[in-house]
Amino acid sequence: MSTEKNKIPRHVAIVMDGNGRWAKKRHFPRTYGHKKGVDSVRAVIRACDEIGIEYLTLFAFSSENWKRPEDEVSALMSLFMSALEAEAKSLAKNGIRLSFIGDISAFPDKLQAKIAQVEKLTVDGKNLHMQIAANYGGRWDIAQAAAKLSQELQQSGQDISVDSFSEAKLSEHLTTTKLNIPDPDLFIRTGGEQRISNFLLWQIAYAELYFTDVLWPDFRRDELFAAVEDYSRRQRRFGMTGDQVEEKNA
Ligand code: IPE
Ligand code: IPE
Ligand code: MG
Repeated sequence: MSTEKNKIPRHVAIVMDGNGRWAKKRHFPRTYGHKKGVDSVRAVIRACDEIGIEYLTLFAFSSENWKRPEDEVSALMSLFMSALEAEAKSLAKNGIRLSFIGDISAFPDKLQAKIAQVEKLTVDGKNLHMQIAANYGGRWDIAQAAAKLSQELQQSGQDISVDSFSEAKLSEHLTTTKLNIPDPDLFIRTGGEQRISNFLLWQIAYAELYFTDVLWPDFRRDELFAAVEDYSRRQRRFGMTGDQVEEKNA
């Protein structure tokens, strides 16, 4: 890949969409698409590690995905379990830290225990910090941050005032901040839809958005590199003028 090191995003966040359609096109059950999607996860982790991306967030299950047919939801739970069982050791061996964001208390006990075990096993990983968003919703994240902040204020005996809920204070309690994960630089959505679907709402305020028609099971190393190359050609202005940005970078 011909991208300068400083143009590599530190944090890439991906909505892995299109598994069901990928399977349907091949006359397979939707769950087969999810299974193939795990191979893409593996390929993308390797590719991120290869080019020095530091943080990777994958949207695996939204707070709205419970609305799906019961057998699809339970097949997804089984797949999360088997993928964690199969990959835990190799993640640890390759210095990849795995964390979860989302309300995992709604998951089966065995899966919650597995998640805790893999998080612990990989906690010292320094090459790539990957977080899986599971039973995650961007609105939930903001609401739970507000709840935690008000609880903290109450416990410390402070009065809640209009200044209590500043941007800085609220963002301290977001799930990603708790894990020391910076905001995403590059947001990718596969599968052709151009929407956020309640993924990281607060955190993507200034992310570069990249949408591709490629369905998630077909999204591999080359597709990730294409997205990073596209990102590297963009000018991020954060409210400034283009000239100001050029001056700053000169
Ligand atoms: C994304 O693929 C995976 C999850 C939401 C778990 P989909 O299952 O949404 O695939 P499509 O959008 O139906 O093709
Ligand atoms: C978003 O995909 C959630 C995940 C990829 C886990 P969906 O397929 O659920 O999104 P919508 O419902 O089409 O917006
Ligand atoms: Mg979908």
